[in-house]
Amino acid sequence: MATQMFEGRGHAAVYQKYRFAPGKELQQTILGYLQEKRANPAELVVDVGCGSGQGTRFLAEHFKKVVGTDISEAQIQEARDEASMPNVSYLVCPAEELPFEDASVDLLTSFTAAHWFDIEKFMREANRVVKPGGCIVLSTYTVDMSVRYGNCSEKLTKVFRENWDLILKYAHNRIKHVKDDYKEIFEALPFPDKKRVTNIFDKIPMTVADVVGYMESASPYQTFMKNDPEAAKSLLQETEKRMLETMGVSSRETPVEFYVRHVCVLACKGR
Ligand SMILES: C[S@@+](CC[C@H](N)C(=O)[O-])C[C@H]1O[C@@H](n2cnc3c(N)ncnc32)[C@H](O)[C@@H]1O
Repeated sequence: MATQMFEGRGHAAVYQKYRFAPGKELQQTILGYLQEKRANPAELVVDVGCGSGQGTRFLAEHFKKVVGTDISEAQIQEARDEASMPNVSYLVCPAEELPFEDASVDLLTSFTAAHWFDIEKFMREANRVVKPGGCIVLSTYTVDMSVRYGNCSEKLTKVFRENWDLILKYAHNRIKHVKDDYKEIFEALPFPDKKRVTNIFDKIPMTVADVVGYMESASPYQTFMKNDPEAAKSLLQETEKRMLETMGVSSRETPVEFYVRHVCVLACKGR
């Protein structure tokens, strides 16, 4: 079964504000793979579960026509409201029923979303729409982030992780796919020519406010908010306070480096 999260207008707005685009290392992994498979330049790229378009806008810089799709109208509205290139468009539809002809898509991507789909139905649909010689790329960042600042990075990461772990207690069962580094999703990929890369590290420039905003944008935090709004809000306040104390600064706009690890599964359909 597909799992619907990220639906509300409020969540979509927080999402748009705080979710980052694929970092340079992930971008290079994807573009390098497509070159290796001679799948570049692709004519039609479909970014499934595009949310507010973080990955879709990166794709638009490299490919002729990019369509972002998402089950959430609120997310697609946020994506449409953002400035983007003329070769990008957006559609509301489930990942398991893509409105594209058989063998019409050169590249099908999904960033930090495939674990929410009905995996079996989505893989069937991906197999149907991707052209022979076309590719599927599914990535996610994992939950083991670190935060770096001056000489207190270790302490700062500890503060972040302690609070992040409290939020992750509200994680949906689907996060098991992220925790197993997309192993099950990799195994379900329908093309024999496939690989899984689990050690892609990207440095995302943020501020303390952005890190706290990122925590707020996470689906487990939204569940926490529904269960216990007071505790959820005070957790974010407490995280911010402890981060600033650890860093010895007073401004929440102080820059930090947020390190994420990506997992990426890549596959190419035989010609
Ligand atoms: C964690 S967000 C990722 C958004 C964006 N790709 C990014 O990189 O930040 C997951 C997205 O998947 C969408 N989603 C969840 N289940 C879906 C489904 N069955 N079909 C299409 N989109 C789905 C959600 O609405 C949400 O926008």
